Amino acid sequence: MSEKTGLLRNVDLFSPLDERQLQAIAKRAVEKSYSKGDLIILEEDEANQSFFILAEGQVKVFLTSVEGREAILAMLEEGDFFGEMSLLDGENRSASVQALEKTRLFTISREDFLATLSENSELTLTLLGELSRRLRKSNRQVSSLSQMRVYGRIAASLLQLMEQKGIRTRSQDGKRMVVIHDRPKQQEIAEMAGTTRETVSRVLRNLQKKGYIALSGRDLFILQEDELKT
Ligand code: CMP
Repeated sequence: MSEKTGLLRNVDLFSPLDERQLQAIAKRAVEKSYSKGDLIILEEDEANQSFFILAEGQVKVFLTSVEGREAILAMLEEGDFFGEMSLLDGENRSASVQALEKTRLFTISREDFLATLSENSELTLTLLGELSRRLRKSNRQVSSLSQMRVYGRIAASLLQLMEQKGIRTRSQDGKRMVVIHDRPKQQEIAEMAGTTRETVSRVLRNLQKKGYIALSGRDLFILQEDELKT
């Protein structure tokens, strides 16, 4: 078995292939090396339509916003693959991929990649399994981001109320705090923050647990103003 076939044998995606099929892929795969910091795929690129298998090293998959800010989508390691999305949907590259260390890759041309998939349904199922795992992970990220945004909006609404009707005072043990008498109902805070009453209730409980606010009857105490601002 050649070194190339041996490395491809360790790639989960290729586990359904028998020796003959693996050797056929190895024959078509081209080895490439990248140094730390090299850009392997550029978001929106339409050239270089190939599929990549990571034999050694680590890469990051990321998007760049108009202001130049980076959002990391995934870190991929030895045995992982990338570059399949644009080959499958015919669109431009969906993200950029950069080597985080010295990296060795195998590339497979679009034609060979698609031919291998159509010849081997088990391989296609393994690929779909991995794509489902990646989608689940992205879904979790989206969900936690939108949770964070709602949390920020509720904190901002509390700070707005504090500015409007808060009274600066001190607790019995001398700590600075702000009291809002006759606080709005949870439904009203929800309307201010553009969310549901249930979410406000959950976030307020969470803020109390952290010790940032306290509720007593119709009074709301802001105990750690700075924490709400972050
Ligand atoms: P492609 O769009 O061809 O080029 C960029 C590659 O980054 C893409 O294929 C995927 O292989 C990979 N990629 C894009 N989004 C994600 C993600 N959320 N998680 C893991 N890999 C991704």
